Amino acid sequence: MTSSNDNSIESIMHELREFAPPRAEEVGAERWLVSSMEQYRSMYAQSIEDPQGFYDEHAADLKWFEKWSRIVEFEAPDAKWFVGGKTNLCYNCIDRHVDEGHGDKTAIIWEGEPVGGQWGDGPEILHLTYAQMQEQVARFANLLKASGVRKGDVVTIYMGMVPELAVAVLACARLGAVHSVIFGGFSAMAIADRVADAKSRVIVTCDGSWRRGKVVPLKDNVDEAIGMLESQGGPVVEHVFCVGRCHNKISWTARDRCWTEEMSKVSADCPCEALDSEDMSFLLYTSGSTGKPKGIAHTIGGYMVHTYLTGKYTFNLIPDCNQVFWCTADIGWITGHSYILYGIMPNRVPTLMYEGAPNFPAEDRFWDIIERHRVTQFYTAPTAIRAFMKWGAQHVEKHDLSSLQVLGTVGEPINPEAWMWYRSKIGRGICPIVDTYWQTETGGHMITPLPGVTPTKPGSCTLPFFGIDAAVVDQNGKEVEANQGGLLVVRKPWPAMLRGVHGDRERFISTYWATVPGFYTAGDGARRDEDGYFWIMGRIDDVINVSGHRLGTMEVESSLVSHEAVVEAAVVGMPHEIKGTGIAAFVTLEPGHQPENESAAEELRKRLVEHVAHEIGAIAKPDMIRFTDALPKTRSGKIMRRLLRDVATGTEQAEQDTSTLEDFTVLARLRESSE
Ligand code: WT7
Repeated sequence: MTSSNDNSIESIMHELREFAPPRAEEVGAERWLVSSMEQYRSMYAQSIEDPQGFYDEHAADLKWFEKWSRIVEFEAPDAKWFVGGKTNLCYNCIDRHVDEGHGDKTAIIWEGEPVGGQWGDGPEILHLTYAQMQEQVARFANLLKASGVRKGDVVTIYMGMVPELAVAVLACARLGAVHSVIFGGFSAMAIADRVADAKSRVIVTCDGSWRRGKVVPLKDNVDEAIGMLESQGGPVVEHVFCVGRCHNKISWTARDRCWTEEMSKVSADCPCEALDSEDMSFLLYTSGSTGKPKGIAHTIGGYMVHTYLTGKYTFNLIPDCNQVFWCTADIGWITGHSYILYGIMPNRVPTLMYEGAPNFPAEDRFWDIIERHRVTQFYTAPTAIRAFMKWGAQHVEKHDLSSLQVLGTVGEPINPEAWMWYRSKIGRGICPIVDTYWQTETGGHMITPLPGVTPTKPGSCTLPFFGIDAAVVDQNGKEVEANQGGLLVVRKPWPAMLRGVHGDRERFISTYWATVPGFYTAGDGARRDEDGYFWIMGRIDDVINVSGHRLGTMEVESSLVSHEAVVEAAVVGMPHEIKGTGIAAFVTLEPGHQPENESAAEELRKRLVEHVAHEIGAIAKPDMIRFTDALPKTRSGKIMRRLLRDVATGTEQAEQDTSTLEDFTVLARLRESSE
């Protein structure tokens, strides 16, 4: 564990504030779905002791074409949920509401980024009803079919946050095609890797996407990725559907299809397939501690039930009560999958999708959106909250945020200072904050307060959600005492758990199921306090959490080493005011590439940063690069990252054990160069 993490554990440990939940009327909510700790405890106890009874009842809220015969079958690490059940995620997000007479109600509220000029005074806004979504989704599903996409085929989606992104995702779900959404901030090489791994023959993209007033050239990146695949003799991409959004210049080849043109040619009739509960629903790539990103595989029935239930109870979603739910994540991350679409739409509360940046055209854009659309639930990340704090409360105070009922956070541990700011400046000092701990692999919330029920403590994600048997244990799987740090594990299967790593059984087992046999290991350190509240202490593997998104140190290192000037690189996390954790890179250079002076060194640093951005994406750009003639290594040649972390954070650890260090002068030189 890093020394910076140790420090933050210290400060969190001194956190003694506790906030009782408000009454529903105080925040303008109709009611709290769970209204007492006794009710939470009894529902939780049932979910763990009698999962059959618990899930039989709750899963029946959703439409199944055929009922399941058993709730769960589990032999670690393999789980099956709602065995034998037949259902469809798209049906439960859209068609069910149309069939039940709500076709003209708003499903998605969409707001574009650009304002002014051709967009007039305000931004472009769309209210898409369930009936309109049904039509669009059915058409696109027919287009996919006509392109030869069948159940189980992987469709790659690389788009901006436009309504067509939701349409493309849900169209896959309608057919039982597997979607692999790639965040629009990733580079051509990241697309190529993922398309190759998933053997995907169809890509859906946009000409460009708007980001802070500029156009991100998505289609160009797709073309570049396909070029890379072709030159490597990789899989052949047969069709590229392209949505025209920014009208930037793009090139057009025989495989390209214009979204608008094609959509008008196909029928709007395409029934939802009755899919097996355990059919695959999607792949989502995430970073691990070694090598290439891994494709996390999710299935249908269990994922649907867990995201629906967490959407409902964590955010207190109640249809027909004028609620508007807004999750600020991109659909390219699991947060967007689960809490813009799949966990929200089945609850029949409008979900808001915003296309662009939080500071465009000004730093009050989010508060403007909340005021304009009367947002009731707002779900964002600690890194965003820290940016808002830095920009200042004056941007908030210009707007009426009185519609807000529940605030959420996700992505990394939230520092108590940011938590308090969120509560007082955004939440009027009364809105409950749900600090939701979960992962790409868990599909939905694992540990979270329920608003209106759970007393909250700044920095703690509090107590497990229904069905989640989370614990903090030692290497032998034994629970540790209160306030002792340990490994965060889940001891029982839960419905939305990952079913595997695409094409890599061994990695699935070694990453998640080998540390404590029989238990799912999340890769996070945690402790529980005397009230049983969980406090997440951060990653225990070589993964760094930058702005709430995981990056493997290895990925960034490989990218640096692929540059001609670099011999060797080591990457560690360092504290960063906004990102939470920034990236520090220690790099040794090829002899012919040694910079002659500081300005040449600065030039080279810039080139390396651009190189990483080009290979992975802007999210992986190092915040600091230090050139060094050697890296501290053990006698067996392992880089001693903890020593580098100390150098990066400027913390001197007198007690650091350096007995295995091979060359002591390396460390001394590194320290000198940092002064
Ligand atoms: C890792 C998962 C789940 C969507 C966002 C990130 C960290 C996530 C919290 C939280 C403390 C958190 C963990 C976890 N994390 N939420 N509320 N408190 N840490 O998804 O990229 O799969 O990353 O994010 O370290 O393992 P992800």
